[in-house]
Amino acid sequence: MSKRILVVGNWKMNPATLEEARTIIRKVRHAATELSHTDVVMCPPFIFIAAGSHRTDSSSHTYLGAQSVSSHREEGSYTGEVGIHMLRDMEVQYVIAGHSEERARGLNDVEVSRRVAAIVHEGLTAIVCVGEHVRDEGGVYLDTLKEQIKNSLADVPVKSAKDVVIAYEPVWAIGAQQAMNPEQVYEMVLFVKKVFADLFGQDIAMKMKVLYGGAVNAENAADIIRIGKADGLLVGRESIRPEGFAELLKAVDTISDK
Ligand code: PGA
Repeated sequence: MSKRILVVGNWKMNPATLEEARTIIRKVRHAATELSHTDVVMCPPFIFIAAGSHRTDSSSHTYLGAQSVSSHREEGSYTGEVGIHMLRDMEVQYVIAGHSEERARGLNDVEVSRRVAAIVHEGLTAIVCVGEHVRDEGGVYLDTLKEQIKNSLADVPVKSAKDVVIAYEPVWAIGAQQAMNPEQVYEMVLFVKKVFADLFGQDIAMKMKVLYGGAVNAENAADIIRIGKADGLLVGRESIRPEGFAELLKAVDTISDK
């Protein structure tokens, strides 16, 4: 059986108003009703998540995600933090951990790993972001990436590895004009699966999903899935433009050999 394609929209710190957030959610849900093979996750800022919860229609394969979470598993005196139980109560099913923009603000692998452990412990799916800053001819970036994956998953028990999705996002492509070319994406998807197999075993690695992220749009999305063999996409800018995002979803969903 072929895997379903997973497209995750990371809204980042957008939009400015609740009304706009509601509009994006409504339009994306509507667009998703046309899809057959694709699951869509919307990750609004925490404050807008509730706008997407407690829905009455369940006709499309859309889910709610969060962009981050506290590593503290229990409620308590952690000013400014949002806990995993709160997210679950808002019907969040996916949580991003270790996005490069948070890593750039000081988030390290140890904390990422604790967050991932908290997410999977609660039965939610962790979308763990990894990716190199630069590439060197000698391939040192591959060792760095391998270490980043290992360290970011250090606290994940084997039994929970099935609840981990890896989002490979070369930092140089995030927010850039051009995505990585699909042939290179293919190499990196294989590399990530190999590292995952070394950590958790071949069986789990065969079933896991590796997403690609970084300058994905309606034009390049299908090739990243078809040629790059990514199991899905992590989309930033395009995910808050409902018309463009709808086109992207359609392009991805119509790839027949997946
Ligand atoms: P982008 O962002 O699609 O705007 O490049 C991707 C990301 O940060 O996940």
